[in-house]
Amino acid sequence: MSFEVSPELYDLLVGRYGARLAAELIRVAGVKPGDRALDVGCGPGALTAALVETLGPGRVTAIEPSRSFAAACRERVPGAEVLTGSAEQLPFEDGAFDVVLSQLVVNFMADAAKGVAEMARVARRTVAACVWDYGGSMTALHAFWDGARELDPSAPDEALTMSYCREGDLGDLFDRCGLAEVQFGSLLVEAHYAGMDDFWAPFPHGVGPSGAYCVTLPPERQAALKDAIHRRLGSPPGTFTLAARAWFATGRTYPLAT
Ligand SMILES: C[S@@+](CC[C@H](N)C(=O)[O-])C[C@H]1O[C@@H](n2cnc3c(N)ncnc32)[C@H](O)[C@@H]1O
Repeated sequence: MSFEVSPELYDLLVGRYGARLAAELIRVAGVKPGDRALDVGCGPGALTAALVETLGPGRVTAIEPSRSFAAACRERVPGAEVLTGSAEQLPFEDGAFDVVLSQLVVNFMADAAKGVAEMARVARRTVAACVWDYGGSMTALHAFWDGARELDPSAPDEALTMSYCREGDLGDLFDRCGLAEVQFGSLLVEAHYAGMDDFWAPFPHGVGPSGAYCVTLPPERQAALKDAIHRRLGSPPGTFTLAARAWFATGRTYPLAT
């Protein structure tokens, strides 16, 4: 499991974008004071923390299949209730939450249509989700996979293997899941790196699909991959900042609640 890893290592890969992305997802989802919110696939808790900050303690529930991530979220966000479980089988009553959000998770669900349908079932008003633009402006992961294929043309490409990572894909899924007033668009964020060693640190530990690929390589191939990625990032000599785009969709449950 590429997500049964230390939350600190995850922070170095995707977590460093998490707080900014969460703020954007909360904005487009129209989360408002007094709402009860569910975070599906919360990981170590970037979106959960932002929801508690917005809504206050006792109004946010999070659910996550990785035990290490669920434990980290519980510890990091004491104002939230954190359960272990999956999107496809949410242990909640119909309409238990005003808003149900999911950040960077739909593409990892075993059955995304079932997962989003479950999110819609437990939402009284709004469902919102986002997925990285793997093939485009998620610079870090795009550079990783381009570098991997430069060295080995048969290496995978997350832009092709990931579902729901093209513009409009999530919106189409939301439509198929019966959500109303579906809207979609992009969320733009960025993250800062202290240098190439900082960028590279999580990959040899197997974090996420990119890390899972990295650990299959012998040390000299890992070093060559690190160099190839550095070149693709423009060979920055010191600190650098990378942009990342995620596609989002929002939808209303029907009949519309007030
Ligand atoms: C890229 S991480 C995103 C974590 C967190 N939402 C964030 O923004 O940092 C993907 C997460 O989806 C979780 N996940 C994978 N399959 C899932 C499923 N079927 N239902 C819910 N979460 C799932 C993983 O365990 C992992 O924590």
